[in-house]
Amino acid sequence: MSTGPGPGRPDRAEETPHVQPSGPAGDEAAQAGPGAGATGPEAGAAPSGHAMWGNTTSGTAENVGYVPTNGGAAAPSGPRNGPAQGESELVREVLKDAEVSRETIATKPAGGRGQKEWPRPDHCRIITIANQKGGVGKTTSSVNLAASLAMHGAQVLVVDLDPQGNASTALGIDHHADVPSIYDVLIEDLAMAEIVVAAPEIPNLYCAPATLNLAGAEIELVSKVARESRLRRALDAYDTDRFDYVLIDCPPSLGLLTVNALVGGDELLIPIQCEYYALEGLGQLIRTVDLVKAHLNPKLNVTTILLTMYDARTRLAAQVAEDVRAHFGDVVLNTVIPRSVRVSEAPSYGQSVMTYDPGSSGALAYDAAAAEMAYQGAAK
Ligand SMILES: Nc1ncnc2c1ncn2[C@@H]1O[C@H](COP(=O)(O)OP(=O)(O)OP(=O)(O)O)[C@@H](O)[C@H]1O
Ligand SMILES: [Mg+2]
Repeated sequence: MSTGPGPGRPDRAEETPHVQPSGPAGDEAAQAGPGAGATGPEAGAAPSGHAMWGNTTSGTAENVGYVPTNGGAAAPSGPRNGPAQGESELVREVLKDAEVSRETIATKPAGGRGQKEWPRPDHCRIITIANQKGGVGKTTSSVNLAASLAMHGAQVLVVDLDPQGNASTALGIDHHADVPSIYDVLIEDLAMAEIVVAAPEIPNLYCAPATLNLAGAEIELVSKVARESRLRRALDAYDTDRFDYVLIDCPPSLGLLTVNALVGGDELLIPIQCEYYALEGLGQLIRTVDLVKAHLNPKLNVTTILLTMYDARTRLAAQVAEDVRAHFGDVVLNTVIPRSVRVSEAPSYGQSVMTYDPGSSGALAYDAAAAEMAYQGAAK
């Protein structure tokens, strides 16, 4: 059983000139967002040196999943619906005390391993992917962002912290009840090295699986010493610096498992589904983040928001995207993930969409989102 990449990262390249990612291209780009109608000479072309990765509103709309920032030329111009306005107020209210930051972190450009490689961070970025609302794309985003980053040369670990074990399934990892899992790490003090396995489909990609045992962990953790910090301690002991990214997939709750993920991570990525109820509960999530930040993990910051399941045919999706951008600012990735059948089919084949159908709109969008994360980076 492979238990992760070896110590150190000898393949790290020295500083080389900044490399722009090769952006996604293709016909399916047109399905992904308000830029769908782009028919100019650049439509479908791989962007070169465009502003997609920066804090800018001048990116080209033809990119897969690109949604212009609030007020952009292609922004929907129709009247706003009542619910979207309500959401605006909700977000404004819940965010007034929230700390949201997006500072560019230092990255080392990759080199010597092919053109498709993206820069890798100087230190391991531990990114918690959380939203207590169910079915918003936490697992899908964890798995596909991880797959994309790994396919572009990064060493990536996905920690499955959901008793449903969906991330383990999607990565093709065995997670029946007897498999050593994250439950054993949290409850039985097993070392991470004992449970981490390589994903079969994609080199550089590893998984700490979850089994159904984890369903009992919320209760069992209550009586444990340092119950909120057990994942952090396990990750510290594991020497995560052998990885470039650790992505922690959370269950749909704000219980002790998610709190462990918030204490264990340095960055928080919140997937937001582009639908009416998407913003409900965000206030509670942000307040939980603030509490964790104040008492348990001062390093935690909301660094990335990813709009998921975007349906370009509905005005509501555009309005939700617009509202989220207006209130969260530049932590919202320019790329949005379109609703795509191929994305939802992939897990049943034990695959990410990145390998199941690399040319699909969903795969291209996740690739673009991962490139934004790799290039632009996010704050500690
Ligand atoms: N872009 C997409 N297009 C189509 N279907 C999607 C997309 N993203 C996610 N789905 C589907 O939506 C459902 C919920 O997604 P996912 O499991 O990633 O959400 P989640 O937030 O992890 O859910 P949970 O809260 O239960 O853990 C899944 O069936 C998934 O296949
Ligand atoms: Mg999930």
